[in-house]
Amino acid sequence: MNILVTGGAGFIGSHIVDKYLELGHSVTVIDNLSTGKKENINPKAKFIEMDIKDESISNVFAEGNFDVLSHQAAQMDVRVSVNDPKFDALNNIIGSLNLYENCKNYGVKKITFASSGGTVYGEQNEFPCLENHPTNPVSPYGIGKLTNEYYLYYYKQVYGIDYVALRYGNVFGPRQNPNGEAGVIAIFANKLINGDQPIINGDGLITRDYVYISDVVEANVRSLEKEVNGIYNVTTGVETNVNHIFKVLKDKINSDLGEVHGPAKKGEQRRSVCSFEKFEINHNWSPKVSFKEGIDKTVEYFIKVNK
Ligand SMILES: NC(=O)c1ccc[n+]([C@@H]2O[C@H](COP(=O)([O-])OP(=O)(O)OC[C@H]3O[C@@H](n4cnc5c(N)ncnc54)[C@H](O)[C@@H]3O)[C@@H](O)[C@H]2O)c1
Repeated sequence: MNILVTGGAGFIGSHIVDKYLELGHSVTVIDNLSTGKKENINPKAKFIEMDIKDESISNVFAEGNFDVLSHQAAQMDVRVSVNDPKFDALNNIIGSLNLYENCKNYGVKKITFASSGGTVYGEQNEFPCLENHPTNPVSPYGIGKLTNEYYLYYYKQVYGIDYVALRYGNVFGPRQNPNGEAGVIAIFANKLINGDQPIINGDGLITRDYVYISDVVEANVRSLEKEVNGIYNVTTGVETNVNHIFKVLKDKINSDLGEVHGPAKKGEQRRSVCSFEKFEINHNWSPKVSFKEGIDKTVEYFIKVNK
């Protein structure tokens, strides 16, 4: 297939690009390198440095003849969205619409979208929750992800473009940015390896559903199949708190740094954990990498890049 991957220089997008190329697909990457890195981009992919909001992106679609858009590019930090909702919406809603309109105009058959299981539901009343749980996002980022899902439904109903919205849990693994605000495993691992003190926000008891990158990539491979359509959680159903993450990393890295807590971040969702039952029953996807195994691989990676 001929696939356009937006955000292909980023953490998740670059792993998807690697896999798609390995499977023999032809891949074009669009990325504005705002958080992504050139060195993440597989040299076998065609790279176009461009913002997804750029109107001239129509030229890329006109020449590309893409079968599939894999839309991974986004402002991906919940706290940035809280501080600057307009910036978030410009990138994550208007930028996406720029892509979807071009999909419509240039005959793209399917869109796969990086949605977010950690934010579209808001505070849950079931643990773990299924895809039909009420969606009451409590961040502009979550609102943006849900809005994309509604637009994708619209493009399917009105223009017949197939879509898969994958509601990722908290993804972790090699290449995640350890210097950002999001991605606690990458941030803590990198700090502990360098002997720097990680700070746990608040009581450290907020929970998330941590899913390893290779499982997310596999979900994106499945999404290319004709019969895979609609919305799926890409999660583990396992709830993990930040204190536990600190302890597991500290043990793995053999650090003698203690658990230090700072002030809690305002408005942070307390618990998030989602069931992958729907994806498993319908398309036999389930996470294969345990939390511990994922942590081991991630730590090995950060040790290597810190050398
Ligand atoms: N990391 C997670 O835990 C997680 C969870 C749920 C959903 N997601 C979603 O998965 C996708 C990938 O996230 P990630 O963790 O790899 O983040 P990332 O920041 O590593 O990747 C995002 C990529 O998009 C690019 N980008 C951002 N804005 C752009 C724009 N306007 N035009 C062109 N390129 C742009 C960045 O340069 C970067 O390479 C995002 O859509 C994110 O919202 C991530």
